[in-house]
Amino acid sequence: MAKVLGVLASARHLGNSEVLLRESLSVCQEHGLKTEIVRLTDLNMSFCHGCLRCILTGKECRIKDDIPLFLDKLLAFDAVIVAAPTYMLGPTGIVKSVTDRFLCRVDRVLDRRTIRPGAVISVAGLEEWKGQGLGQLSLFLLSFGIRPLGFMEAYAPGPGEVVLEKANIEKAREIGELISNSILNQTLIRQEVGPNRCPVCFGDVFRFLPEGTVHCPNCGLEGELTDSGISFPKNYEELHRFTWEHLQSHIEDWVKASAPRYLASRKDIQKEIINLKEKWGE
Ligand SMILES: Cc1cc2nc3c(=O)[nH]c(=O)nc-3n(C[C@H](O)[C@H](O)[C@H](O)COP(=O)(O)O)c2cc1C
Repeated sequence: MAKVLGVLASARHLGNSEVLLRESLSVCQEHGLKTEIVRLTDLNMSFCHGCLRCILTGKECRIKDDIPLFLDKLLAFDAVIVAAPTYMLGPTGIVKSVTDRFLCRVDRVLDRRTIRPGAVISVAGLEEWKGQGLGQLSLFLLSFGIRPLGFMEAYAPGPGEVVLEKANIEKAREIGELISNSILNQTLIRQEVGPNRCPVCFGDVFRFLPEGTVHCPNCGLEGELTDSGISFPKNYEELHRFTWEHLQSHIEDWVKASAPRYLASRKDIQKEIINLKEKWGE
């Protein structure tokens, strides 16, 4: 039986993210799918040390915490729905801290070569303060080879207050339908987006480049500013930074290749650091 994992990034019990996530997963259950929820704040976890041992030697992460097992679970499920509140204009920090550990499983993500369906649920207290919650939450899925197919943004400050707006519950159910249908029909069925949203991460915050194009900071997609908004190339599925080819090339040609590059100039770096330390009086 296909399994859908719900990843919850709020410590609040029956808070807004949890209510919406549970409602989406209940639709998956109605379709006969198995579901499970992991609350990230229940995990015992530390932060990536940046030693690169995992990616350079293929050995297990030196940090002995719950993250390697959690990431194995994330890779074992057929689809993932992630739900997070917005704290200080982005998803709660735990989402970033878990995503930062992606190097210890990126080889397995690349070995799989299959893209799995996912969806993002982003909750903020008020729309004017939503910041970059949604686009940054999608990075969690994209980093682990999961394609966000559907999304929702909801606004409510108090725990569970999101239920007062019936449209929120309906939208959460639509996400459950989208994920269930994608699994059962074995096709990636994408939610349509308007012209001013990135079609990959669903973010709506962009960078204006000097050459006059508009750039999604999450996916690296470039679009054109037109009279009806930002227009992205039709073949955007081949262009963003999380395609299998682009991620593979980033890991092999840049991350792994950074070790010999670094070693080649290590003596110069050490000399400069000794000079600086003398200047600092250390
Ligand atoms: C520390 C903290 C920071 C917050 N920062 C924001 C924010 O920047 N923008 C916003 O719209 N809401 C913000 N909120 C409100 C939450 O996003 C809102 O209460 C949300 O519904 C919480 O979701 P939950 O019930 O799933 O935990 C913040 C709440 C807390 C506790």
